Amino acid sequence: MKNNKGYHIIILFCLCFLAVANLNAQSDWQIPLEANEKLSPFLFDDDMVLEGRVAYENSCTSCHGTPGQDNFTPMSPPPGDPASEQFQAQSDGSVFYKIKTGRGTMPKFAELSPMMNCGTL
Ligand code: HEC
Repeated sequence: MKNNKGYHIIILFCLCFLAVANLNAQSDWQIPLEANEKLSPFLFDDDMVLEGRVAYENSCTSCHGTPGQDNFTPMSPPPGDPASEQFQAQSDGSVFYKIKTGRGTMPKFAELSPMMNCGTL
């Protein structure tokens, strides 16, 4: 009987370890090198900023909140604030890849607007 209990504790230990290892693995996105190096092909002008704002407000605010306000929806993993240093430190290609492919609760947006036509890039 005593031995059995010991096994249960070891198995519980292993399960906890696997759960933590799995959580850690989730925080790393695997971005293909080629995708990571992609640069935005769009001119960063007033029209693009306006279009980006409208697309963001329509499709992203519900989870990511207002940029710079840290008021994203609390969930795990957290969506994060796009104005944060960590978010901004990423390459264009990395952000684009994540938006295009999504992961878990983060939906995939192959095409955000007709002008951006992200699906064909
Ligand atoms: C339903 C909620 C939801 C919506 C809507 C949503 N996101 Fe996300 N987003 C998330 C979550 C949750 C994560 C974290 C996913 C993960 O780490 O597995 C995330 C992660 C991201 C990331 C990666 C952040 C990082 O630091 O690596 C980017 C970029 C992103 N979202 C952009 C957008 C954009 C742009 C939109 C709108 C077009 C959008 N998201 C809409 C929930 C959402």
